[in-house]
Order: sequence, then C-alpha cells, then structure tokens
Amino acid sequence: MEVIIAETYEQMGKSAAQMVAQVINTKPNAVLGMATGSTPLALYRELVRMHREEGLDFSQVTTFNLDEYVGLPVTHPQSYHYFMHENFFKHVNIPAQHIYIPSGTTSNYEAFCAWFEQRILDCGGIDLQILGIGSDGHIAFNEPTSSLSSRTRLKTLAKQTIDDNARFFDKREDVPIYAITMGVGTILEARKLLLVANGKNKAAAVAAMIEGPVTGMITASALQLHPSATVFIDKDASGELKMIDYYNWIQQMKPGAPKH
Ligand code: GLP
Repeated sequence: MEVIIAETYEQMGKSAAQMVAQVINTKPNAVLGMATGSTPLALYRELVRMHREEGLDFSQVTTFNLDEYVGLPVTHPQSYHYFMHENFFKHVNIPAQHIYIPSGTTSNYEAFCAWFEQRILDCGGIDLQILGIGSDGHIAFNEPTSSLSSRTRLKTLAKQTIDDNARFFDKREDVPIYAITMGVGTILEARKLLLVANGKNKAAAVAAMIEGPVTGMITASALQLHPSATVFIDKDASGELKMIDYYNWIQQMKPGAPKH
C-alpha cells in the first residue's frame, strides 16, 4: 500500500485528483468507481477544475458508485444520487448513460445487485476505485464483520455509521437503516484503489487499515490484499501511524528510485 501524506485537506484532494487524471489521460474510456461522503469533495472539486481549466475530458468515462441508501428517492438531498449529481456529475461531461449508481428504490434488491455486478463486468471492470473510510474502518457500506469476499448486496448499517451520518439529516431517526453496497470482494477486483481520509476522527481507522491485521472488523484493511492501493491522507488523519517516517521517506526517495 502506498501512503501519501498531505499538509492539508485541499492538498490531499489535489494529489488524489492527479492520480485519477493520469488514469483518464492514459485510458480515455476508463471505468471509475466513485465514492460519496464529505472526504472526496476536495478531490471532486479539483477534477472539476481540471475539466474546466485544463480540458480533462470525461466524455468516454463510465462510472460506478459504491453505494446508496435504501428508501431515499434520487431527488432526496441526502441520497447518493443527488450528492453525486450536485458535487460532480453536473460539472463534468460524463454521458448520463455511462453513470451507474446502486438503486435505493428498486422492488427487487437481489436482482438489482446481480445486474449491477454484471454491468461492471460488461463494462470491462473498474480501472480505478475511489474510496473513503468510515470512522469504524468501513469502506463503502461494508460494516465491521462483513466478508472480505462479499459482493454487491443489501446491508444493515451499524449504529456507529448511523450516528456519524446523522449530521446530514434533520433527525437521527431520518437516517436510513439499510443500504445497498458493493462488496469488499467487488472493490478488490478494481485494477487500482485510491482511498482518501482526513481529520483526527479518522486517525484510528487509518492506522488500523494500514498497519493492523487484515480483518473483517476493519473492512478497509482488505486494501492490504490489493496489489495497487494508494492512500491519500492529511496530517490529522496520519496521527496514529507508527511507520509514518518510512512513508515520508519513500516519497522523498521516489525521484531517485530505480525505474522498472
Ligand atoms: C459513508 C459512505 C462511505 C464513506 C463514509 C465516510 O459511510 N458509505 O463510502 O467513506 O461515509 O464519510 P465521510 O467522508 O463523510 O467521513
């Protein structure tokens, strides 16, 4: 796992965006995995800026979102459909028919999940999956004790996640209890993984993900099993890392490293 520590949240977003842009520039019809939450906002802002000012072209890009709340219509301001449209899709040129977000309102979740998995395969698989991390160490909505081989499915949210996300809703009771989420196994099949995390409240989860054992209790720790996972964090989120000097040393020594 490569760990890149930025001074600030905005810088974290900028370096993560460089990696996304590199994938698109190398493969204009790349398939991107998208994440919601407050953390990727700086990354999306920077991608939008690159699109407007530098001509970063999304016209052949396809996207698959990680997850969606069950029961919220796409017009609900807290639905992930709405979030993605407002914060990213409406500012770039991805064709609407190339955008896939799990449905939180389907009448048949099992069939929808199977279809979603098949769509990912039919589109050639995900080239780069963007991820955030929950304070309990989850990725997407793969709560603690999720199988590390899990696929897209309906999931009951942990109380911790409901508490964390209550800040976005009027009342805690308004937070959905169920979500549809890509599985850890689905996520691990992406060719590259990019995880962003910021703030002190993520420091423990970040340390467990990078330096702890691989465990279903911290589903983000499954990134240790992936051959190409990069973690972009800010200073605050790096506070509990034991090997921080090594991660910084690797980045400093990078320009001189032998080329393969
Ligand atoms: C939710 C999402 C995750 C996200 C997490 C953290 O649980 N399903 O994909 O990583 O929130 O969100 P935030 O970035 O707002 O802390």
